[in-house]
Amino acid sequence: MKKKANKTIEQLRRFESRNVTFIEPDGSWPIVWERAKGMRVWDDDGREYLDFTAAFAVAAAGHANPRIVAAGRRQMAKLLHAMGDVHPHALKAELARELSRLTFERLAKRIGKTIFCNSGFEAVEAALKTAHLATGRTRVIAFEDAYHGLGYGALNATWRSDFRSPFRRQIGGFASFVPFPRVRADLAKLEQRLAAEFRKRNVGAILVEPIQGRGGTNIPPPGFLKLLHNVCNKHGALLICDEVYTGFGRTGRWFASEHFGVTPDILCLGKALTGGFPLSACVGRADVMDRAWPESTGEAIHTSTFLGHPVGCAMAMASLRELDSRNLPERSAEMGRLFLDELRRLAKRLGRGRCQPRGVGLMLALELFHDDGAPATDIAVGVTKRLLHDGFILLPEGDPANILSFTPPLTVGKSHITKLIRALGQALEEAYA
Ligand SMILES: Cc1ncc(COP(=O)(O)O)c(C=O)c1O
Repeated sequence: MKKKANKTIEQLRRFESRNVTFIEPDGSWPIVWERAKGMRVWDDDGREYLDFTAAFAVAAAGHANPRIVAAGRRQMAKLLHAMGDVHPHALKAELARELSRLTFERLAKRIGKTIFCNSGFEAVEAALKTAHLATGRTRVIAFEDAYHGLGYGALNATWRSDFRSPFRRQIGGFASFVPFPRVRADLAKLEQRLAAEFRKRNVGAILVEPIQGRGGTNIPPPGFLKLLHNVCNKHGALLICDEVYTGFGRTGRWFASEHFGVTPDILCLGKALTGGFPLSACVGRADVMDRAWPESTGEAIHTSTFLGHPVGCAMAMASLRELDSRNLPERSAEMGRLFLDELRRLAKRLGRGRCQPRGVGLMLALELFHDDGAPATDIAVGVTKRLLHDGFILLPEGDPANILSFTPPLTVGKSHITKLIRALGQALEEAYA
């Protein structure tokens, strides 16, 4: 590692709280990002990388997409900040209108209403509050391996105990967890579990990622969301789909719930919404939102200083236009098929007991095992570091981090995929040798 990166790492070590940036003492992790464009990222020593994470699935239309950047710049020069829930700006209304069109109008010929927030977990918390107000019930059903963010509300529904357990004594614990189904045969058992939960507890909502992201790119069987939808309808509860990760074309459709033919009552959106500005949205069917939230009498009961930030709204409008005009959701489906074929070929070469590929659109994963069947976390982490050294940015995911995940910008090209597969094949062959 050269001098510039050293200085940054040293400053972080001294002035950023512990337990935020992971710093490997041998200098192999992290790199210090300086700039990015499309698929490419440069570190502050001028080294170039191909980014197969889209920076947590945010840069869907490519890093620093020129039309999104220009929209943000124009807005910054004009109005940098407005008064969230008090004196609005026009773009907030335009974006709420656009989100309604893209979600409930397109999918169910109904109007959608939005609460804007800043990050993904806040959109989840706005949805949880909505469900509580709309149903008067206190409990939520969530899924094992779910990730909904780490705010004190969302954390109740995030599965991993290393995130939750340090705070368990303080947070409320209003969620019950049920297994996330992997195959069709799991659905009957799930139905029974859900029935038991509804019998035992005062459940107002089921919160679910239609395809689990950080929990390991877990793809449920067809019929899963329909089952949840039917159970919710039967019991007068709300179905909340957390599409913070899967939204805006990541899985080859605008929203992953479309693969299952289900329109939820509430959608949580974030990440790719703006392509890089912290803005998120809880979008609910208008009748649900109106049932939950009373007319304001002067003081919003759920708001924040930066709600509906004008720069975020301008970037979101540009990002949605970009995704739409370049057919990026369709492109995601097409490139995803090609990518998955390559991963399958690679897995065949290395042995299916070792490498198990899966994915939908450009949300792909390769799960790694040792020959005795144990999760190969060491190999996943080692290969991630080796590929970083070779010029590819990747992340391991799942618990215990034995899954390599691939969520590149939806603009990724065939040649990028070919390059990655070649380097990945070599790294895995050496790791398993
Ligand atoms: C499905 C899902 N929901 C919520 C979140 C939380 O979003 P944020 O980190 O922006 O709060 C994430 C983040 O990865 C996510 O994947």
